Amino acid sequence: MIPVGKGDLVEVRRLAPADLGAFQAAMPAWNAHEYAGRIGFQERGLAVQLVAWVGTQPAGRAMVVFLGHPEWSPSAYREGCPEVRDLGVAPAWRRRGIATALVAAAERETRSAGFARLGLGVGMDDDYAAARSLYERLGYVFAHGPFVQAARLETDDGPALPVAGVCTYLVKELPECCHTVSPRRFSDPAGTAAWRTGRSSASRSCTRPR
Ligand SMILES: CC(C)(COP(=O)(O)OP(=O)(O)OC[C@H]1O[C@@H](n2cnc3c(N)ncnc32)[C@H](O)[C@@H]1OP(=O)(O)O)[C@@H](O)C(=O)NCCC(=O)NCCS
Repeated sequence: MIPVGKGDLVEVRRLAPADLGAFQAAMPAWNAHEYAGRIGFQERGLAVQLVAWVGTQPAGRAMVVFLGHPEWSPSAYREGCPEVRDLGVAPAWRRRGIATALVAAAERETRSAGFARLGLGVGMDDDYAAARSLYERLGYVFAHGPFVQAARLETDDGPALPVAGVCTYLVKELPECCHTVSPRRFSDPAGTAAWRTGRSSASRSCTRPR
C-alpha cells in the first residue's frame, strides 16, 4: 500500500476475475470483453494487467505486454523489450502518485519476467504533455521516432474505431535485472529467448540480435 495523500492508500495489483465488474464499471474499456481478454493473456504469461485500487475503487490502470502478445508492437520488437500499454489514471485521482505507482509495478513485473528494459510509446501532441513529463521524471529516455501508431478498437456495437497518433518511443534500463529468475516459457519464433536470461551480452542490454 502506498500513501497518495489525503489519508488515502493505493494498492496496485494484477487484475483478477473477481474484480472485472468493478473495474469495467469505474474505468470502462472500449468493449465489454476487453478486460476479460486481458486476463486470458495474463494467465498465459503474455501480459500483466495492473489496476490501482483506492479501497474498493479502481483509480488507474496499466498493462505490460510481453513477446508473443498480439499487441507487442514493432517498436517493442525493435528495442527488444516488453512494453507498457494503456496507462491511465481516473481524472479525480490524478497528480497523487498513482501513475508513478503503476509504472513502478510494471517495472517490477518486467524484472520478474527476466527483462532488463521496458519500453513505451507516447504521443507528441499536447494531450500527452503530462505523460511525457511523467516518463521523463521516471527515467524513460528517447529510443526512436517519431512514427505513426495506429490501432482499431473493437467496439460492442458498430464498426471498429480507428485511432492513430504520432508518437516517440521511450525506454528505461531497469536496474537489478533478475539474473536469478528462470525465463518463463513462451513462444519464441524469432529466437529471442536469450533476452530474458540476463546472462548473455544480448540479454544484458536487452537489444535485439542484429
Ligand atoms: C499521464 C497520467 C497517467 C499521469 O497520472 P498521475 O497519477 O496524475 O501521475 P503522477 O501523480 O504519478 O505524476 C507523477 C509526475 O508526472 C508528471 N505529471 C503528471 N501529471 C502532470 C500534468 N498534468 N502536467 C505536468 N506534469 C505532470 C509530474 O512530473 C508528476 O510529478 P509531480 O506531481 O510531483 O509534479 C494521467 O494524467 C492520465 O491518465 N492522463 C490521460 C491518459 C494518458 O495520457 N496516458 C498516458 C498514455 S502514454
